[in-house]
Amino acid sequence: MMDSSPAAITPNVDAAIATLKAKGVDSLPPLAIVLGSGLGPFADEASGAVAVSYADIPGFPVPSVEGHAGRLVVGAIEGRRVALFRGRGHYYERGDANAMRVAIETFRGLGGETLLLTNAAGGLNKEWVPPALVAIRDHINFAGANPLIGYPGQDRFVPLTQAYDPGLTADLHEAARASEIELFDGVYMWFSGPSFETPAEIRAARVLGADLVGMSTVPEVILARRAGLRCAAVSVVTNYAAGLAGGDPSHEETQEVAARAADAFKRLLRAFIRHAKA
Ligand code: HPA
Repeated sequence: MMDSSPAAITPNVDAAIATLKAKGVDSLPPLAIVLGSGLGPFADEASGAVAVSYADIPGFPVPSVEGHAGRLVVGAIEGRRVALFRGRGHYYERGDANAMRVAIETFRGLGGETLLLTNAAGGLNKEWVPPALVAIRDHINFAGANPLIGYPGQDRFVPLTQAYDPGLTADLHEAARASEIELFDGVYMWFSGPSFETPAEIRAARVLGADLVGMSTVPEVILARRAGLRCAAVSVVTNYAAGLAGGDPSHEETQEVAARAADAFKRLLRAFIRHAKA
């Protein structure tokens, strides 16, 4: 008979937890933030922090993308202990939609409750001048991949009706108001990458209801929801999506524009950490 325990395909979660405990991280705080493009340095602002390189935690991704150093940092921001995932694994790196599975399940296993994801995205709304910030209200999985394929057990049938927790998203908007930051609201469409989209794909994305396009976050939200975590997400629009403004999007532009948003983005995260009932 097939082993129906999740452990059957997540052999590393126990090892990852054991490794963190051996390094003195016995528990993780209820709130974690995945720091996307341009936000990595936010992890340096945590006080009394413990940092563990992903490379030292079995099953954690070893990001191959420049500008995505892999490190789990646990420390206090705004007087509140948070876990910061500095860097992420992407589907396009190895064709593995589970790149973040062990990291997410380890967070849950050590006490995590709420996951705030951040990313860089292309914008479909011409009024969102880069580097605009956008709370993700919902997503469209257009990558043809799902991390739960092959996952045994009934809990693979994860409802995604409220994948982005309305209460947390309201907290994000409240945090934006309190810190006088403009925060838009939109639907994120996941493309596998690593190539950028064609103009025809962007026209199709618009017809299908997308406001943003990007190469991350969606598999993480699916994994997090299966693990029972509440999720919220924010994109920084680093460019107009392909064909909207002429010129090619590029990884360099993404990094450069995301870095320009960092100050406002960090203020938003600090206000969220202060206010959120997460
Ligand atoms: N497309 C996909 N992913 C992205 C983009 C984009 O235009 N910009 C930043 N990440």
